[in-house]
Amino acid sequence: MTDLPIYPLSREHKMLRDAARDFAEKEIAPIAAQFDESGEFPYKTIKKMGELGFMGIEVPEEYGGAGMDALAYVLALEEICKVDASHGVVMSVNNSLYCHGILKFGSEEQKRKFITPIASGQAIGAYSLTEPQSGSDAGTMRGRAVRDGDFYVLDGRKSWVTSGPLADYFVVFMMTDPEKKQKGVSAFLVDGKTPGLIRGKKEPKLGIRASATSELIFENCRVPVENRLGAEGEGFKIAMTVLDAGRVGIATQALGIAEAAYEAARQYAGQREAFGQAIGHFQGTGFKIADMKTRIEASRLLTYNAALAKDQAKQNGGRYSLEASMAKLFSSETAMYVAHQAVQIHGGMGYSKELPVERYFRDAKITEIYEGTSEIQRLVISRLELGLR
Ligand code: CAA
Repeated sequence: MTDLPIYPLSREHKMLRDAARDFAEKEIAPIAAQFDESGEFPYKTIKKMGELGFMGIEVPEEYGGAGMDALAYVLALEEICKVDASHGVVMSVNNSLYCHGILKFGSEEQKRKFITPIASGQAIGAYSLTEPQSGSDAGTMRGRAVRDGDFYVLDGRKSWVTSGPLADYFVVFMMTDPEKKQKGVSAFLVDGKTPGLIRGKKEPKLGIRASATSELIFENCRVPVENRLGAEGEGFKIAMTVLDAGRVGIATQALGIAEAAYEAARQYAGQREAFGQAIGHFQGTGFKIADMKTRIEASRLLTYNAALAKDQAKQNGGRYSLEASMAKLFSSETAMYVAHQAVQIHGGMGYSKELPVERYFRDAKITEIYEGTSEIQRLVISRLELGLR
């Protein structure tokens, strides 16, 4: 039998993947259930992940990162997410939604000031686009940034911000010219200590409960002009470009969750007996195992391919929206399918908090929603394929 996946991984890729696997199994696995139950943020392990270089894998070493490629990032994130999707989303947001955008669109000074603390693991970053009445239709945001001399004054309400309650720095999108709609959006780098930036209510969530998600309220929040990321009006393009990177991260998170749920189900199918034999002998279980495994490997191919496309785009300045959206769509729906089947194979034990399978099931759902719902991924893919954009 072939040892899947057949990928030409370098020595550095394997070393990073093994380091992430080792850390996840030794340090995160023993606490994952407890932090899921309490909904507390796992500061200690997140800090250690930063010290190990997991928060800025693609960031060049001169800005505190590991200076590796997108495949390396995906390999490490997959190992973390196999053990705990909450740690995984913090890692994904720091790497993709936060560092990636500043690296691509930031000035030299912005990179040094805003990337270095995150990539070196001393601080946490966040990305804030969504508003209470503007989710999928991101271009309709109401939050305003009005120029006042050397400052922009930010006012508005943002929602569903991963790491919102505790992040040190934020990439925030606001309207600078509402009449221009998407072309009137601008991006800002905001220090979490800026007066007028208020952390709103923390969301009680179904899954990824150890990650912290909240609203952000901006009231007369003065941000220096030098903290604008990109040109005025370039914000929507920045938000979308960054979401392509984010979607590769969420595809990876979903892959990790699916792998964990699958492995639990595979083992249980070999141990649990019914009607005088292990339940894996029944075709009803065996066929589920076959479909789960096949879909996971297809997710892996799409996700690694999206990582390779992201690396290629770094060289030629192109887009990889199609690859990112296909990976996110397929991997997230696979995570939900696999987690569902894993609960079913476990029967009552799949419904019990004594095993992690019910956590995988709860954690899988968000991957079909955040960073663009499955419906939005289908919209992106179909528009690109039909030449409508
Ligand atoms: N890269 C670069 N540019 C892009 C782009 C991309 N991926 N996607 C769109 N653009 C550009 C287009 O080329 C176009 O530019 P021009 O006008 O110059 O041609 C411009 O942006 C507008 O594009 P559209 O006309 O396609 O915009 P739209 O209003 O129809 O919206 C959409 C497109 C795909 C629906 C988009 O709004 C979208 O992705 N929505 C989902 C938003 C989302 O994922 N939100 C999640 C937020 S983060 C989160 O979940 C929280 C967290 O903390 C994890």
